[in-house]
Amino acid sequence: MRSELIVEKNSKSSVAEAIRIIRTNLLFSSADKKVKTILVTSSVSGEGKSFISANLATAFAQNDYKVLLIDCDLRKGRLHRLFNITNDKGLSNLLLGDVEKEYKEYVKKTYIHNLHLLTSGIVPPNPSELLDSNKNQKLLEILKGHYDYIICDGTPVGGLTDSIVMSKNVDKVVVVCAVNYTKLDQLENTKKSLQNVGADVAGVIVNKVPEVHSSYYGNYYVEN
Ligand SMILES: Nc1ncnc2c1ncn2[C@@H]1O[C@H](COP(=O)(O)OP(=O)(O)OP(=O)(O)O)[C@@H](O)[C@H]1O
Ligand SMILES: [Mg+2]
Repeated sequence: MRSELIVEKNSKSSVAEAIRIIRTNLLFSSADKKVKTILVTSSVSGEGKSFISANLATAFAQNDYKVLLIDCDLRKGRLHRLFNITNDKGLSNLLLGDVEKEYKEYVKKTYIHNLHLLTSGIVPPNPSELLDSNKNQKLLEILKGHYDYIICDGTPVGGLTDSIVMSKNVDKVVVVCAVNYTKLDQLENTKKSLQNVGADVAGVIVNKVPEVHSSYYGNYYVEN
């Protein structure tokens, strides 16, 4: 699974270059507000949220920032597998405890320098309720004090409220869509749902763009 970290494995590839461009765009996306927390979401499953989140977090860490990646997909989070880390203690478990006293036990180092991971944890019966809790807000506030950037990997917006709820807790939201996969009306609905709750949508990443002379897919960042 480690091979998905294209930014680390093949830093000269066009996908890695595209991820670095997205990082730069986010770094300069807001002159007035310091952007520290970024949620990656999409319309439906499989568009590449986890792939983009993990690579974006790695790209920020390579810039010498202290970065935390949070797996906010409490339903089927898989970032722990990508980084080969156990998931017995993750976000869902932490949100049931004392976040202030216990968060250090839950945040794990990854093999990437400067990059820590908070895995999703045991699948809870009430993911959106947990994400919507005051405790989750408090946790993010505490974590913001310890990291330069926090990247949150979310669930799709279609049919679930998890990412809508999370979007209110972060500085910027990035929406991923995939070529020949995401339908335009799905993407429009996602944007509307996010805007309805006042989320700050930084832009849309068009993922899985086939390249002519390469087996890799490209990513392009489109201003909204
Ligand atoms: N740009 C890319 N290049 C190559 N493979 C990619 C790219 N983006 C995504 N993938 C692959 O597509 C699959 C789905 O990606 P991913 O798991 O990141 O989607 P997701 O949006 O997080 O899905 P879910 O909603 O189920 O969590 C994975 O196997 C991933 O490795
Ligand atoms: Mg995912």
